[in-house]
Amino acid sequence: MKKIEAVIQPFKLDEVKEAMHGIGIEGLTITEVRGHGRQKGHKESYRGQEYHVDLLPKVKIETVVPDARAEEAINVLTSAARTGKIGDGKIFVYDVAEAIRIRNGDRGDASL
Ligand SMILES: Nc1ncnc2c1ncn2[C@@H]1O[C@H](COP(=O)(O)OP(=O)(O)OP(=O)(O)O)[C@@H](O)[C@H]1O
Ligand SMILES: [Mg+2]
Repeated sequence: MKKIEAVIQPFKLDEVKEAMHGIGIEGLTITEVRGHGRQKGHKESYRGQEYHVDLLPKVKIETVVPDARAEEAINVLTSAARTGKIGDGKIFVYDVAEAIRIRNGDRGDASL
């Protein structure tokens, strides 16, 4: 299994969520976060307040998927989240050792 962790523009959340649901990925965790990439927050949408805004609001999406679905999920997420401008975000991919559905003890792919 892989954990796909994406930091995206908040206004892209609904589009990304629908795209993931569209390929049958149902389990997601969303967190409102703040961050910056290599521009350190400057030259993005808070131009008028550059001097005191350096950590911009973003949304972090985490989803754990079977290994065989990871590339597809990354591709769908990337195209749904992309505007082509700086600040579109980033995706990090991790190996997941185990997953358990608490209700019935399902493990691995069957628990996702
Ligand atoms: N190396 C990193 N480690 C952890 N989080 C990161 C990293 N790079 C970016 N992020 C997170 O992703 C968000 C969006 O990053 P962003 O898209 O601006 O990356 P970038 O490398 O500056 O690319 P771009 O040039 O397209 O803007 C940041 O606000 C931050 O929360
Ligand atoms: Mg950036």
